[in-house]
Amino acid sequence: MKILIIGSGGREHALAWKLARGAHARRIFIAPGNAGTALEGENVPIKADDIAGLKGFAMKEKIDLTIVGPEVPLTLGIVDVFEAAGLKIFGPSKRAAELEASKAFSKEFMTRHGIPTARFRKFTDPSEAKAYAETFEARNIPLVVKADGLASGKGVLICTSLDEAFLAIELIMEKRVFGEAGKSVIIEEFLTGEEASFIAITDGKTVIPLAPSQDHKAIYDNDQGPNTGGMGAYSPAPVVTKELKGEIMDTIMRPAVKAMEKEGRPYKGALYAGLMIKDGRPLVLEFNCRFGDPETQPILMRLKTDLAGVMLAATEGRLGNVTLEWDERASLCVVMAAGGYPDDYEKGMEIRGLDAIRGMDDVVVFHAGTARKDGGIITSGGRVLGVTALGNDIKEAIEKAYKAVEKITWEGAYFRRDIGVKALGRKM
Ligand code: AMP
Ligand code: GLY
Repeated sequence: MKILIIGSGGREHALAWKLARGAHARRIFIAPGNAGTALEGENVPIKADDIAGLKGFAMKEKIDLTIVGPEVPLTLGIVDVFEAAGLKIFGPSKRAAELEASKAFSKEFMTRHGIPTARFRKFTDPSEAKAYAETFEARNIPLVVKADGLASGKGVLICTSLDEAFLAIELIMEKRVFGEAGKSVIIEEFLTGEEASFIAITDGKTVIPLAPSQDHKAIYDNDQGPNTGGMGAYSPAPVVTKELKGEIMDTIMRPAVKAMEKEGRPYKGALYAGLMIKDGRPLVLEFNCRFGDPETQPILMRLKTDLAGVMLAATEGRLGNVTLEWDERASLCVVMAAGGYPDDYEKGMEIRGLDAIRGMDDVVVFHAGTARKDGGIITSGGRVLGVTALGNDIKEAIEKAYKAVEKITWEGAYFRRDIGVKALGRKM
């Protein structure tokens, strides 16, 4: 098979890495890719949102299967465009991707179908939003203000005072710091508990769960500071017990796929539920219409089954016959970011130490914001590398990943030092 992967992050490197090790892939192209994906296949200089350019390339190269990494091309309707041209593509249609593109659609969808989520209201008028925020102060509880549209995981502001809530509403709706995503906001109650990422692959009927994982969204240790795209992840996530996994499938994943079909938006591809586990019960914080980044990096290091076969089956409605096999070991990814991320940061720093990792067993450095320059590798984004290791248990995976992290450096490199700590002390 000739495979085209769209995107340029750590998730796409992990997809390319996994597919390159499977039986199906004869040639792998990544558009536009990064310095790491170039080691697994051929980078193609077409941007992820250039739908016409990508379609032209897929037709010319007779691509057998296209896999979409990020949400933007999905919400632009790449799946619809490719399918209309007779090209096979893994991912949801534009109408199905609304589940991520609009938080209002997603929340209203969950409410319509009894999928557990935090109570919320939607506002298009800032003064009405503020009046609603005041009712939270009266009840003395924190609230969460979310830009309705896409904001790279950064459009969610958790407010512990009324002043903060007003500021959040002004930033999103009036100053439009997340652009058009701030035309409307969702205000919802703050949920306490432990988060988990639950990703499934579906052909629109059968829903197959991937191994549960846990992300680390905040920039600083102990989940402090602003949210990022994700600073590290591990799998399995012991907070998701076997029983809980069953409950998540029964009350969230299968009902969501069924309801999307019922609403005339049949869903296929990867469906990602960001969950809050509160008093042992799962609630949905958000749905994403794609694989998680960085969750995909540790998840795919544990997957034994050939991924291309599974994805092809999903695009052809044949998932009923598919089972997945997992490495029992634990896997953990530490994201190394540019100093300053998620705010302003510099690019173009030379990365040193990558060679020292090559001899390390069960350690893979997935590239995200990297590029080649003069024979070396430089930083070219906020999240730069995802250093990922397999260990017999989470403790060993942590030790191995951080041992590798210590060997890599560039000016201003930053990483959290507590990835996976929440899993220690829990039984796997
Ligand atoms: P979202 O993009 O909606 O998943 O939100 C990003 C992050 O904000 C989540 O991963 C949580 O850490 C946090 N968050 C979002 N909604 C809530 C909520 N209702 N209660 C507590 N934390 C939340
Ligand atoms: N790691 C969070 C996400 O992919 O949305």
